Amino acid sequence: MVAAQKPTPVDASEIASLLWTESLPREHGFEKLRIEGTLPPQLRGTLYRNGPGQFVQFGKRYTHPFEGDGAATAVRIADGAALGASRIHTSAGLVEERAAGKSLYNLGVSWPRRILNNFRGKRKNTANTNIIVWQDRVFALVEGAPPTEIDPTDLSTIGETRLGVIGAMFSAHPHRVASRKAMYNFGLDYGRVTKLCLYELPDVGPARQIGSVPLSGPPMLHDFIATETHLVFFVSPTRIDVPRMLLGVGGFPQLWQWKPEHGTEIICVPIDRPTEVLRFTTDAFFQWHFANAFSRANEIVVDYIRYPDFASFYDIGAVGSGAVRKLLGAGRMHRATIDLAARTMRSEQVSDRSCEFPTLVPGDEGRAQAITYMTFDDLGAVGSMDPSGKVLAHSLDADERVTEPVYADGHLLALCHRRDAAYVGVYDAARIAAGPVAKIWLDHHVPITFHGTFAPTR
Ligand SMILES: [Fe+2]
Repeated sequence: MVAAQKPTPVDASEIASLLWTESLPREHGFEKLRIEGTLPPQLRGTLYRNGPGQFVQFGKRYTHPFEGDGAATAVRIADGAALGASRIHTSAGLVEERAAGKSLYNLGVSWPRRILNNFRGKRKNTANTNIIVWQDRVFALVEGAPPTEIDPTDLSTIGETRLGVIGAMFSAHPHRVASRKAMYNFGLDYGRVTKLCLYELPDVGPARQIGSVPLSGPPMLHDFIATETHLVFFVSPTRIDVPRMLLGVGGFPQLWQWKPEHGTEIICVPIDRPTEVLRFTTDAFFQWHFANAFSRANEIVVDYIRYPDFASFYDIGAVGSGAVRKLLGAGRMHRATIDLAARTMRSEQVSDRSCEFPTLVPGDEGRAQAITYMTFDDLGAVGSMDPSGKVLAHSLDADERVTEPVYADGHLLALCHRRDAAYVGVYDAARIAAGPVAKIWLDHHVPITFHGTFAPTR
């Protein structure tokens, strides 16, 4: 007799689900952390990480992890020791909800409340996706709202800011162009015609808007990439369901639809001539993240993590339901070549290894031979990939997951998660496969952090 075959979940361990569902259990300012191994003595600075920190409020779960109230975790390293802090961002909306003793803003609230919020143009700025340092100030970012300034001394929330120029939204993925001594970013402006608003944040001086580009529909657009000359957008056929949004019907997953018949629109904006937009449409695909891009003659080469469709968004929304899910496992590194004269793009898979959350050595942006650091195997491993697709990686224990690695002074800092604890794995960037040279332990669970940065101590 053949035994009934038991379905094997793709993610066998509990941590894969806890990352996306279990709120930060303890908030604290900077306190001494336990070090396992030896920290490189030259490593001095602060690793900032950001992600959703609260998934449930007043006993009710939010409709998608992306609705979670943001939280930052920071680890400050100096002289072979480390301090750590974790704190949920007390946005104006969250403060209002706590005072009211009930949820007011997420998509699980009552239909009349949602209509009222839309009518008043009110929403909660969860600041749950990235954290950046600009002009020595720290900002938590989420793509659906302006930046939120954070106090670096204790991670307390200073408040929302538009930096004098930003509209209703500012993406969580600014990209720095070293030769231009500036960061670039975009924000969507949803309306009768949805627009891409383009911003420049110079190393010195005020932020400014450099242009705006009308779009053919209201997409979800998470990231873009910048070269020394162009801002490049791959606008996948994700579309917000405007009637549902206006009528306040359905949760976060129901607001977004995949419309492959529209294809993916490629938009290249010359930074110095932002009205001379080059655009064309190619086959439908989706990406969360870009790794790098550079110009070559009349071409732009773009490295990005490609997905065949938008399934990962729905899979993340269903975490914890017990269903077999791929989550971010379908992403593959691709290299696209855009021919600016012919208005065509060809894209080739660089490696068959599942990967996500690409980062570079700061200053390597735009370099053709740049090494990309990232996670592999649906957050099960961390390492690097060169432009030929060669991977050097370290696989974590089965009950651990790792998020985006950040390069710092010859090392990779990767926040690793396990049940009831987390640690920053400190890897020698030249010997990743050997495993971390040190682990900096936090004595509590840290929910998934999507992105972050390392600010060296000067
Ligand atoms: Fe992201």
